[in-house]
Amino acid sequence: MAVLDSDKFATKAIHAGSHVDVHGSVIEPISLSTTFKQHSPAQPVGEYEYSRSQNPNRKNLEDAIAVLENGKYGLAFSSGSATTAVVLQSLPQGSHAISIGDVYGGTHRYFTKVANAHGVETTFTNNLLEELPQLVKENTRLVWIESPTNPTLKVTDIELVAKTVKNINKDILLVVDNTFLSPYLSNPLNFGADIVVHSATKYINGHSDVVLGVLATKSKEIYERLQFLQNAIGAIPSPFDSWLTHRGLRTLHLRVRQAALNATKIAEFLAQSDDVVAVNYPGLPTHADYAIVKKQHRDALGGGMISFRIKGGAAAAAKFSSSTRLFTLAESLGGIESLLEVPAVMTHGGIPKEQREASGVYDDLIRLSVGIEDADDLLDDIKQALQASKN
Ligand SMILES: Cc1ncc(COP(=O)(O)O)c(C=O)c1O
Repeated sequence: MAVLDSDKFATKAIHAGSHVDVHGSVIEPISLSTTFKQHSPAQPVGEYEYSRSQNPNRKNLEDAIAVLENGKYGLAFSSGSATTAVVLQSLPQGSHAISIGDVYGGTHRYFTKVANAHGVETTFTNNLLEELPQLVKENTRLVWIESPTNPTLKVTDIELVAKTVKNINKDILLVVDNTFLSPYLSNPLNFGADIVVHSATKYINGHSDVVLGVLATKSKEIYERLQFLQNAIGAIPSPFDSWLTHRGLRTLHLRVRQAALNATKIAEFLAQSDDVVAVNYPGLPTHADYAIVKKQHRDALGGGMISFRIKGGAAAAAKFSSSTRLFTLAESLGGIESLLEVPAVMTHGGIPKEQREASGVYDDLIRLSVGIEDADDLLDDIKQALQASKN
């Protein structure tokens, strides 16, 4: 059986995009050459000419992403933000876009401060499904979803949004930012998305040592348009970062599954703790969107991200987050190590208080990125930090 005939994630993660070189290297060498020899003008020796246009390590990673997202084509960029930029840059001038309200801050910034300067106007909504029919205009070209959202972990029914959008106008692109789940837990292209994007900086690389972005699509036309821009804009990842990310990707299923199991234990504990006001975790059956989680996430797993409101307000949140011993107080997420942050004063500090509270980002909200350390040790750390937050 050819390896890629397998539909099993673990087999695909290990083998997709693994191409044997002339030496038979089991793990591909890092190909640093910026340019490639040609036999005669416009007759390259192999399939590469110049490393911005394509490079062996980037190609391997792009092939693997396409396979793991059940797409046909993958593209890699120098960051998740560069991926977003290229997708939005592909819209014709004068286009209209619709985005869920609580998208990643950098995506919101790109929509409102960069894309609008190029004539792309965006409407944000906190009730996407209900408001979609009224919000779509003649010039609407794109709908942007992030699921689960950051940091309140609301889940969107991608299939329902895709059906609603395509019924109105089949040419409107549906883009899903799948960063928080990774291709192991969900494949938005299966539910009707046209493009799935990731900050591979998070789970896909998974070791907090690379900034990189990827996307996948089933459409040749979309791929060719975005590949043209990838080359024209040149926001490409280095061969080394592509290689590292591909290495990280090969253990995605092990890391993400363990992070989700650890997070479930912690979320269950927090949900019954007297020191906690509320818990947001898509893997809990009490989560408002759990019916969607069961349909959209592998084994109804909730992922590695949790947010919760601690009793005692901002002061308790600050005390808790400086009292943990295993969870490191730092931005970012999706690595093997556990991190935590207080969104109101860190990742979401730039959003006016009223606006952030409207989407559930209160001063007492703490976000956990649960890593793959021992679950009992992580739980003990949370317990002692909760205790410390009361002193
Ligand atoms: C959901 C989401 N999308 C996109 C990005 C941007 O990715 P990058 O930091 O790799 O540019 C981030 C970064 O935090 C993110 O959390």
